Amino acid sequence: MLSVSHSLARCLQEALELAFPEAVAVARSAGTELDPQLAPASKPEFGDFQANGALALAKLLKQSPRAVATALVDRLVADPAFMALALPPQIAGPGFINLTLRPQALVAEVTSRLADPRLGVPLAEAAAVAGGCGSAALSQADGGLAMASALVIVDFSSPNIAKEMHVGHLRSTIIGDCLARVLAFRGHPVLRLNHVGDWGTQFGMLITHLKQVAPEALTTADAVDLGDLVAFYRQAKQRFDDDEVFQTTAREEVVKLQAGDPVSRRAWQLLCDQSRREFQLIYDRLGIDLQERGESFYNPYLPAVVADLEATGLLVTDEGARCVFLEGVSGKEGKPLPVIVQKSDGGFNYATTDLAAIRYRFAAPPAGDGARRVIYVTDAGQASHFAGVFQVARRAGWIPEDRRLEHVPFGLVQGEDGKKLKTRSGDTVRLKDLLDEAVERSEADLRRRLAEEGRQEDEAFIRHVATTVGLAAVKYADLTQNRTTNYQFSFDRMLALQGNTAPYLLYAVVRIAGIARKGGELEGGGDQDGAAGVGLQFSEPQEWALVRHLLGFDAVIGEVEEELLPNRLCTYLFELSQVFNRFYDQVPVLKAPAEARASRLALCRLTADTLKLGLTLLGIPTLERM
Ligand code: ARG
Repeated sequence: MLSVSHSLARCLQEALELAFPEAVAVARSAGTELDPQLAPASKPEFGDFQANGALALAKLLKQSPRAVATALVDRLVADPAFMALALPPQIAGPGFINLTLRPQALVAEVTSRLADPRLGVPLAEAAAVAGGCGSAALSQADGGLAMASALVIVDFSSPNIAKEMHVGHLRSTIIGDCLARVLAFRGHPVLRLNHVGDWGTQFGMLITHLKQVAPEALTTADAVDLGDLVAFYRQAKQRFDDDEVFQTTAREEVVKLQAGDPVSRRAWQLLCDQSRREFQLIYDRLGIDLQERGESFYNPYLPAVVADLEATGLLVTDEGARCVFLEGVSGKEGKPLPVIVQKSDGGFNYATTDLAAIRYRFAAPPAGDGARRVIYVTDAGQASHFAGVFQVARRAGWIPEDRRLEHVPFGLVQGEDGKKLKTRSGDTVRLKDLLDEAVERSEADLRRRLAEEGRQEDEAFIRHVATTVGLAAVKYADLTQNRTTNYQFSFDRMLALQGNTAPYLLYAVVRIAGIARKGGELEGGGDQDGAAGVGLQFSEPQEWALVRHLLGFDAVIGEVEEELLPNRLCTYLFELSQVFNRFYDQVPVLKAPAEARASRLALCRLTADTLKLGLTLLGIPTLERM
């Protein structure tokens, strides 16, 4: 109900100005605004919204909070715009103002959503134009329009070449995709970047090792398969750790590669192509769209990073390495921690590449992407890496004002024993195997259910449903956790038809859409668009509860956009299906008298549409039947 809450906020602001003009003027001359503190009601019995600002205002005005609240309420009830939306406000406790929307206002909102494919979620641009401060920003010369539609970059998935993509990358892929979807739906241009690790020391090790044990892999495409490559990489790493001569050769090999040696480049290209194809298989299965722009892309920009940092005086040489010492962070013995930008052997590292990436992403086109917001989705283990790199970039002046740079960290994926996820034999789990198993189990569940229900379905149906449900289960189980905590991977839990799971929600969509369809058939027309909105009538508390929950969708999307927590959307959708069930169990729909039936069917349709859109934004395709 964003539009309603914006209108209420405007009414409150006006009431404040009328009731306490001097205080408002004093605050303004000090560069602040008095805030009526409008928020969603903390409990349903308080109504729809509450304004808590009277308490803070009372201190400022040296009056009792109740007197302040009463003065505001007097102004509100005298305001026709307010009274068209809400009932006369109630003052509760020391001075909270409780606001309850009029039934007509709720009905009007439901009616407009039924005809709106965006289900009330405004486009970011339109929001900026409508809001007072947004339009001021817009009219500010050249930056104006560009700001409203400025680019958001989501850096996610980002596995490493010649290494296996692991469950941490899977988490990043699923969470990053969801965030990118939500941001794009809000109308932001989104660049989905796969910052693959295609440039590190691993190539030095791998190429050196392959030259000796499998030189054909360096000159012929697919001479060894990726599994072997990963094994070779492991051996190479072992040798690197144990053998000093090997280490030196491997380091020289990286330098050669980075300097553009044609033989090394060709080998590198082959290795990258091979991994890339393997990653793509996973992305295709999960329906993930990503643009690869690996670490190597930034290679030509690394010297400029050093030069810039040199010019701003941030760069210090310490034991031969060139680094920037961080402010406010210290390591052992209270010594400030450095971000190493160039190692003593002249090589660059992960942090240098990330600095170059930040610089490039914020720089105005054509020299860069001109992003307004850059989001990184990686495990929480990289938090200090990003904190350091962000600080250096900020101090170097690479982040223009009003831009956002955010690390979106997530916890570890654990097995059911609470330890790091492993196969039974103790190996790391391959993503392909994990997805295969989810689909196999989902297929077994489906066949069991079909047998129990005595249903006959063809193989194509079974495969389609099993695949959709299996992959949805993996995605949803991940997204529904608060991403900052570790999460325990359990096929049984994620595939359950009951509880907060993908199968439960997918089933809810099928069932509710079925009811809406059936209702349409009973009414004598399959499609009741348009007609549904006219003259809606609600009387039962379960109907109003569903209405209110449905109308919260736009605010949840706004929260996910701001806080980058997909679990908010999951919780919303799960609660929506529960509120719907209560409604459907307790209030007749198909058997209701004609007038009530049309309104209740409209709620069924809006519920189905909201669940579908919500799941789509999570990256989960829905089913017609299952
Ligand atoms: N390749 C890294 C890893 O596997 C993740 C990269 C994340 N993105 C970035 N710009 N550093 O851990």
